[in-house]
Amino acid sequence: MEFYHTLCLLFSLSARVLLDLPFTTAQSCHPAQSNALLQFSNSFTVQTDMYLLCDPKTTGWENGLDCCLWDGVTCDNVTGNVIGLDLSFSCLQGTLRSDSSLFALRHLHSLNLGGNNFLASPILPELSVFAELRDLDLTHSNFSGSKIRISKCLFRI
Ligand SMILES: *[C@@H]1O[C@H](CO)[C@@H](O)[C@H](O)[C@H]1NC(C)=O
Ligand SMILES: *[C@@H]1O[C@H](CO)[C@@H](O)[C@H](O)[C@H]1NC(C)=O
Repeated sequence: MEFYHTLCLLFSLSARVLLDLPFTTAQSCHPAQSNALLQFSNSFTVQTDMYLLCDPKTTGWENGLDCCLWDGVTCDNVTGNVIGLDLSFSCLQGTLRSDSSLFALRHLHSLNLGGNNFLASPILPELSVFAELRDLDLTHSNFSGSKIRISKCLFRI
């Protein structure tokens, strides 16, 4: 009797674990992607007195905390990859360079940098490294130059 009871308990425990697996909480951030986000954020200044009403999002980003929980960051809940970055109207000012760590976030599906001041940075061909990018918003952000070709991407400027 005791044996069956234990067996049954074991079974129900493992069944519970199995059943719970697909419903575990979202994946946490990959450290390399977290570092890329922090480096990207550190390459800009936050100007809260910007000409627009802006709301800083990156100032709350903190090393050691799961970047999937940071303001403006969306992760794939299965792979944990950063797939969305929405830094619209985040009071960012600075130039976007071709060696920016932003371009390490290869899994981005959507990128919104609208409503910041990129000081007439050129629209870089590096933006096409995002093979899965569907939505790119660079409106009202002081980029210069013309659009580049990005496959399957809705480019707003
Ligand atoms: C995980 O992502 C899928 C696809 O984006 C979504 O439909 C689903 O609701 C998400 N699940 C959780 C637990 O967030
Ligand atoms: C855009 O950037 C250029 C170069 O830094 C600067 O002179 C200009 O004032 C900026 N435009 C706006 C609207 O901030």
